Amino acid sequence: MCGIVGYVGERAALPILLSSLRRIEYRGYDSCGILVQDNARGEVHLYKGLKSISDLIQNLDVAQFPGTIGIAHTRWATHGVPSERNAHPHLDCNEEIAVVHNGIIENFRSLREGILHNCLFHSETDTEVIPHLIEKTLVNLRREKPHTYTGDEELLMAVMREALPCLKGSYAIIVAVKGFDGLIAARRESPLIIGVGDRENFIASDVPAVLEQTNRVIYLEEGDIALVKKDQIYIENMDGGEEVRRGASLISWTIEDAEKGGYEHFMLKEIHEEPKAIINTLREYLTETGIELGIRAELMDKGKGTGSGTGAGTGTGAGTASPSLLMVACGTSFYAAQCGKYIIEHLSGIPVHVELASEFNYSDFVLAPDDVTVIGITQSGETADTLMALKKAKRFGCHTVAITNVLGSSATRIADETIYIRAGPEIGVAATKSFIAQLAILYLLGLHLGRARISEHEFMEWIEELKRMPQVAQMVLDDTEAVARRYATYLAGFENVFFVGRGVNLPVAFEGALKLKEISYIHAEGYAAGELKHGPFALLTPDTPVVAILSRDNVYEKTLGNIKEMKSRDAPVLALAVEGDEEVGKYVDGVIYVPDTEPILSPIPNTVALHLLAYWTARARGCEIDKPRNLAKSVTVE
Ligand code: M6R
Repeated sequence: MCGIVGYVGERAALPILLSSLRRIEYRGYDSCGILVQDNARGEVHLYKGLKSISDLIQNLDVAQFPGTIGIAHTRWATHGVPSERNAHPHLDCNEEIAVVHNGIIENFRSLREGILHNCLFHSETDTEVIPHLIEKTLVNLRREKPHTYTGDEELLMAVMREALPCLKGSYAIIVAVKGFDGLIAARRESPLIIGVGDRENFIASDVPAVLEQTNRVIYLEEGDIALVKKDQIYIENMDGGEEVRRGASLISWTIEDAEKGGYEHFMLKEIHEEPKAIINTLREYLTETGIELGIRAELMDKGKGTGSGTGAGTGTGAGTASPSLLMVACGTSFYAAQCGKYIIEHLSGIPVHVELASEFNYSDFVLAPDDVTVIGITQSGETADTLMALKKAKRFGCHTVAITNVLGSSATRIADETIYIRAGPEIGVAATKSFIAQLAILYLLGLHLGRARISEHEFMEWIEELKRMPQVAQMVLDDTEAVARRYATYLAGFENVFFVGRGVNLPVAFEGALKLKEISYIHAEGYAAGELKHGPFALLTPDTPVVAILSRDNVYEKTLGNIKEMKSRDAPVLALAVEGDEEVGKYVDGVIYVPDTEPILSPIPNTVALHLLAYWTARARGCEIDKPRNLAKSVTVE
């Protein structure tokens, strides 16, 4: 989604801003822009481009302009079509105040028609109200309190304090003011960090944007306003209006971590990092005696007295149902949550309810705070729907936990507690290693919650089996990639594919279908294997292959029966089966074999195989893969 960066220092700002923008290209964007300010010469230069950052660079003579302060933006359109006019930075009427913004100003229309009705607007964006509002506030303060402020800094902070509360919605903004030797930054519901340098500082929406320059980062908190100069960082919070101290964190990711490491695409690299993502996640929480997730003990009490059972549904029912755990998420994280339902119910007997965050937010669902813990699962920690769902849960007084990959992300600030997955930076728009790491956490959570109901011996056996999972994932990568690649070439020739599974592998089928559709643009549908005969059979033809997941579980025979039914409707069937399963080969057109595991753990090998299948299918079709059309890595709007 939108990305913002700012620089203030002694070096030329333009090349630094350009390279920072390139670091956040992966977020997806449809236009970009840069403003550089040279206070010594009293000049401001503004560049905007509709295409890529590379195109923008081609049209710029980077050496030509030495300004040492600047702001830049990659835009993903929400208000107003992608166009140069709508690209940021946006300016006030006098072209002295420039703003880049990430988020949405919900009351921009009423501001435009109300207090800003005299201003001349050049774009259709919500953002443009911000520089006009700042200008108007500045003019008012100068007129009303001409002798109150001793310098620009004090005046500008006072302006921000007065102007920002007029904005409704979410924002991370960086403001440049002509002639002023610093930048102002502020955040509400959108992430923003300051990269701390030596006689220079950086501001950005994402850590990778500044990593090339510094690994010392200050995470701004909700409501923070920061004045950033080359040798000074002053932060205050809108709530108290007082100075607040925010320490810098040392970022351990290297730039190489965030780059492709020799693979053709980030997605392939990230699939190959799936074993490592499991290892790192397990390592973080496994101790010699068990599991230490670092969350409040009360979460474990939720299950007491609920007995075993899988009573909770997955519907979106209104009413007063009070499941012990409610998981909210979007996209791939939602499928992880659905797997989590099967996993936790199987391992602990605690009923789990799963909701799409976007549906939960506007449902009549009533939560009983004493009975339910709400878990938001989000790789980025910035998905607007999931953040809203966590906030809604908090309004009910529920205890909330975020499961996320991103340190300091908004989800971690909203939720009462956080469990980090340790997947490392995920750059490909398609979520891969983060899904596997989310599964790893959900296994740990299931065992953690279920410990009281199983023997110590059984518990330790589960832990041993779980520890084998990185190796299992590696075996899929080593032994299955070539086979998956062969079948991918076959699938690449079709326009419609079904993915079917049952039990814990049903959400895995959803995930396989989502991955295929988002990167190969093949229409793919995930379905419960037993449900195809209730309608979708009408679509089965020799041109509609089915990828069927078959685990050695209690529904093995049933799934095999479903596969036979599909075959008899002439659909080509490709099975994902456990090594040694000779039977399935008699009924299908091809088999991808994966290592045998406890059935509840089978999503690990099956997912790795399906991620490879999706990747190689997209590759066979010549798709762009890391940045699929119309998609962005994190979806920070509802
Ligand atoms: O960052 P999150 O996990 O909250 O993201 C949720 C979805 O937007 C994300 O999983 C999306 O579906 C991916 N592109 C799927 O590969």
